[in-house]
Amino acid sequence: MKVLAIETSCDETAAAVVEDGRRVLSSVVSSQTAVHTTFGGVVPEVASRHHLELLGPVVADAMTKASVEPGQLDAVAATIGPGLIGSLLVGVSAAKAYAWSWGLPFVGVNHMEGHLHAAFLEDPELSLPTVVLLVSGGHTLLICMQSDGQGGVEYRLLGQTIDDAAGEAFDKVARFLGLGYPGGPAIEREAGQGDATAIAFPRGLAGVGYDFSFSGLKTSVVRYVKAHPEVRVCDVAASFQEAVVDVLVTKARRAAGEVGAKAICIGGGVAANTSLRERVREACVADGRSAFIPSRAMCTDNAAMIGATAWYRLRADGPTPLGAAADPNLKLPLV
Ligand code: KG4
Ligand code: ZN
Repeated sequence: MKVLAIETSCDETAAAVVEDGRRVLSSVVSSQTAVHTTFGGVVPEVASRHHLELLGPVVADAMTKASVEPGQLDAVAATIGPGLIGSLLVGVSAAKAYAWSWGLPFVGVNHMEGHLHAAFLEDPELSLPTVVLLVSGGHTLLICMQSDGQGGVEYRLLGQTIDDAAGEAFDKVARFLGLGYPGGPAIEREAGQGDATAIAFPRGLAGVGYDFSFSGLKTSVVRYVKAHPEVRVCDVAASFQEAVVDVLVTKARRAAGEVGAKAICIGGGVAANTSLRERVREACVADGRSAFIPSRAMCTDNAAMIGATAWYRLRADGPTPLGAAADPNLKLPLV
């Protein structure tokens, strides 16, 4: 079964063709980052306009690269939420139009479920239960991915952020330090020159359950820099990154132990961070557990993960009605 999938929830315009939820025949991502850099963040109205211009060519490119004609497709999928409503609407409307005009089922996919499935795409042997740390610009979730007993997967929420998302903290601190947008890669570059032990920034909610808090850390960075104007920016960046990674890995590791997870998997844009990737790998080696670290391209927004999820959703729930609306606040279905 071949699925054409579209992803336009934020600032990447993406399309992919995925076979049987596993084989990526093509995956095209057109990033708008350069456009939004001028504004220091994603401007929703600008993002929707660019999706409108880019989506047609991106879909055509994905179909050509997969050597697939519309008549060879079995479904058309799109991210239906969560995300920016204007951006979501472009992808959802286009996918419904393609589906209707080609006589194919439409599948609306939850963006976060897409991130959860990204690891399966690169490692079909993924063993359950697995603890997934999903860290992006909008979310910080610790989830137990487990079998539903009927050949499918279900998600149990273990913890989440009570304030800022991890990526949001990277973006805000980068902006404060004058490092530009997007903040994650900018902090990581700067941190490479710095000393991660230079400043002992607080670990939010350390030792307490599985929830996260990053807004106190951000305030602490601002206070420290104002009180020590001579501090090296690279030391602040490295110490901040260390504080975020430390708390993420410590909690994921403890959660994995408690639920008896066979593996820890990471996903979302922040999972592109080298320090986080290395620390998760080290923790898993030490605990005798597998680490599923998807490629950086699979951690950040893409349509291949949407195509993979669509295949599971179509088999479990059937097609999504064409009347279904994009939902900017769509939640993950949890048990
Ligand atoms: O998943 P994603 O591409 O989009 C959302 O759904 O939010 O994640 C984007 C977030 C941004 O906050 C960005 O700063 C962060 O991921 N990010 C990183 C890195 N690359 C992207 N954070 C830390 N280190 C990175 N290398
Ligand atoms: Zn995302």
